[in-house]
Amino acid sequence: MKRLHIGLADRGYDILIGSGLLDSLGRLIADVRTPSKAVVLTDDHIWSLYGDRLTAALGDLPHRVLVLPHGEQTKCAEVYAQALSFCAQNQLTRTDMLIAFGGGVIGDLGGFVAATYMRGIDFVQVPTTLLAQVDSSVGGKTAIDLPEGKNLVGAFWQPVLVVADLDLLQTLPSREQAGGMAEVIKYGAIFDSALFAKLEAHPTWETLTPILDEIVYACCDWKRQVVERDERDTGDRMLLNFGHTFGHAIEAHGRYTDYIHGEGVALGMVLAAKAGIRLGVTPVGTDDRLESLCDSFGLPMTDRFPAAALTAHLALDKKRAGSALRLVLLRAIGEGYVHSLPVDEVLSLAEDIGDAN
Ligand SMILES: NC(=O)c1ccc[n+]([C@@H]2O[C@H](COP(=O)([O-])OP(=O)(O)OC[C@H]3O[C@@H](n4cnc5c(N)ncnc54)[C@H](O)[C@@H]3O)[C@@H](O)[C@H]2O)c1
Ligand SMILES: [Zn+2]
Repeated sequence: MKRLHIGLADRGYDILIGSGLLDSLGRLIADVRTPSKAVVLTDDHIWSLYGDRLTAALGDLPHRVLVLPHGEQTKCAEVYAQALSFCAQNQLTRTDMLIAFGGGVIGDLGGFVAATYMRGIDFVQVPTTLLAQVDSSVGGKTAIDLPEGKNLVGAFWQPVLVVADLDLLQTLPSREQAGGMAEVIKYGAIFDSALFAKLEAHPTWETLTPILDEIVYACCDWKRQVVERDERDTGDRMLLNFGHTFGHAIEAHGRYTDYIHGEGVALGMVLAAKAGIRLGVTPVGTDDRLESLCDSFGLPMTDRFPAAALTAHLALDKKRAGSALRLVLLRAIGEGYVHSLPVDEVLSLAEDIGDAN
């Protein structure tokens, strides 16, 4: 088992990464807190696969479980209110605990419930997707969606413990495995050329599985460094948006159904590399390296999307961002930086690279 400490003054906590951790969850929790009872939030997929094991793992800790429908639509105000009521009906007090057992949807929702129920109670994250293990469970951002947009309501609220059991990732649908890999590749691209090279040397899920502990640890460690410097997301965290500006445009173009988030990010990273090459800041061939790595992990690279779709969505950003957009570009693999560009230049870049793709 690997242990990573997130050092945030009085809100520091550990992330545990390893195989078979789920079955020791009760003991791992007892090492950091002694709640008298707990509420578990989870979704139907995860509960049908792992419910019995979780119950056994909690041992003597009395707990009630709220099993929610899987999918992004669960991260909404109605389900949030339902979860708060569930806590109240089970007389959860400020010395008790919430356990978020699931992917990013359950983690974001559960974290926001924990942040707000009785003005904040302890919570433990047990992330079950690769995206949640390397990204959403680290950093303390919690949120729900509104009909007007994603993640519009939320809070910064740190868990008291994160338990990432790598074995759980083996039951993930392959599309979700690949989607999580897009974020892993992102860490390599912006921060860590050695990580990127390691992925190139283990370019499939099967070959990567034996070293997943190192990989997940490396990603969490990069996010840790960013979060410790910039807990409230005012500057440094911006680098983590590599691939996301174009990626969000692609997700929107697919009406949020054709592409899962990681697929948009993967295509967005390749486009950002192409943009950097056109601007003369990114070495030629970086786009090909990113593309072949994403492709080897099963991220769809061949789809065509019209430049107009990219520019239409980016033009919306114009209203939000004012006259300049901050794009994350690469000086090299492993070296991301923030590049401010007039929105109109980004639009014409997007037209070029959108067509080129
Ligand atoms: N808080 C943050 O910093 C942050 C960062 C990135 C993303 N997010 C949020 O994360 C969410 C996406 O998270 P996600 O990709 O984990 O999606 P998700 O939670 O919807 O999980 C994806 C699917 O996989 C299933 N699943 C989960 N674990 C499984 C397992 N071990 N075996 C089999 N099936 C399993 C789920 O039931 C679901 O159908 C979005 O809402 C996004 O906004 C938050
Ligand atoms: Zn992302």
